[in-house]
Amino acid sequence: MNITVIGSGYVGLVSGTCFSEMGNKVTCVDIDAKKIEQLNNGVLPIYEPGLEQMVLKNIKNKNLFFTTDLSTGIVDAEIVFIAVGTPMGDDGSADLQYVLAVAKSIGLSMGKRLVIVDKSTVPIGTADKVKSTIQSELNKRGVLIDFDVVSNPEFLKEGAAIADFMKPDRVVVGADSDYAINLMKELYHPFCMSHDRFIAMDVRSAEMTKYAANAMLATKISFMNEIANICEKVGADANQVRIGIGSDSRIGYSFIYPGAGYGGSCFPKDVKALKKIAEENGYKANLITSVENVNDAQKLVIAKKIVKRFGENLTGLTFGLWGLAFKPGTDDMREAPAIYVVNELVKRGAKIKAYDPKAIEEAQHFYLKGIKEVEYLDSKYEVLKGSEALILLTEWKEFRSPDFQEIKSQLKQPIIFDGRNQYNRFKLEEKGFEYFQIGKL
Ligand SMILES: NC(=O)c1ccc[n+]([C@@H]2O[C@H](COP(=O)([O-])OP(=O)(O)OC[C@H]3O[C@@H](n4cnc5c(N)ncnc54)[C@H](O)[C@@H]3O)[C@@H](O)[C@H]2O)c1
Repeated sequence: MNITVIGSGYVGLVSGTCFSEMGNKVTCVDIDAKKIEQLNNGVLPIYEPGLEQMVLKNIKNKNLFFTTDLSTGIVDAEIVFIAVGTPMGDDGSADLQYVLAVAKSIGLSMGKRLVIVDKSTVPIGTADKVKSTIQSELNKRGVLIDFDVVSNPEFLKEGAAIADFMKPDRVVVGADSDYAINLMKELYHPFCMSHDRFIAMDVRSAEMTKYAANAMLATKISFMNEIANICEKVGADANQVRIGIGSDSRIGYSFIYPGAGYGGSCFPKDVKALKKIAEENGYKANLITSVENVNDAQKLVIAKKIVKRFGENLTGLTFGLWGLAFKPGTDDMREAPAIYVVNELVKRGAKIKAYDPKAIEEAQHFYLKGIKEVEYLDSKYEVLKGSEALILLTEWKEFRSPDFQEIKSQLKQPIIFDGRNQYNRFKLEEKGFEYFQIGKL
């Protein structure tokens, strides 16, 4: 099949590449000329395990193409995916300007029947807006072309995006024509070989499914973080409570790890957008609002523990930071707890020496840009040299079983603030460390 994917970020690039891997001819379009030039030269703008090899292979096989020109990019397409960003607007709602700009461009240049697919996470009713935007351009051109607008939300996780896309738990497609459903079924068939994972529904339910899924996962995280905070007050251990409740199959172990709060490009903005969608429709979403409030506070829990230990004024103190990315396996720092912790500590006069296997450039150039109190080093033990304490904020595999003797010998004092509860199993207090974690005093 001939596929065009508009927007070559985390979702667009992974989806396009995986479709090409199945033998489709895929053209990825982006307005970022530098990104497209890099991709045409085989240089990937993001880090995602396994993606680079797959992109290079499919460029070589002539299944994968990159362009900035949407109108030529869609000439041969049967299906066009919209996978541009839907960032948080000033009022918390999803900003649809990029999606609607793409819809307008499609309407301006489409020449034959197309199935247009919203893959971006968009508020309920967006497919209707995309449809009317395209239709109004077709009307201006005075042409009659049949088209469908379909919702196909994406559930991939950064850090495991290729695996998630190639073997999805489910493929949700909302459409109101058999033609569109059948074409989408054909496209996704190779990804659902072992059993049927294709779930067809109406368009609005598909749009809502994505928000409901993210809100549910964010709720589990904030719920557990709230339980952890209560554990600290009552002298319980959230690590043991986690195992106690996770063993109940109705609850399960996933997404109940106490930590420094959720970040990333999806949960924060989608939770906020869902709250706004409810509000605009006359419903006050109390639970969703609380999920967000708990998370906002949770991002600063580690900074608060540091202040409690070292005092309000941190002038003259340096801390060694492990982990900048919002989670392991990605260089993405959008809404990462590290941004909040670093800013809070620097505001109080501290200096930071930071290490992350993949996200240092993102921090330097975007998320912590211009903060001269942060120094970046390319060795996890180097950042500890002369530092007061180690702060762990991302659970990269290389941090899981570190050399605690080495940590001790580098730090000024053996103190660890563990924002991901990675080290509670090591009984660090018995090894002479002062050990601070989430959910246990
Ligand atoms: N990142 C994730 O893990 C994830 C998972 C599921 C769903 N989503 C959703 O998918 C959507 C995309 O997210 P992302 O993380 O890939 O975003 P991203 O910011 O990484 O990529 C978006 C891309 O769209 C491009 N773009 C913007 N306007 C364009 C236009 N008019 N024409 C062509 N390209 C244009 C940008 O240059 C950018 O490269 C969002 O709605 C997001 O909520 C993201």
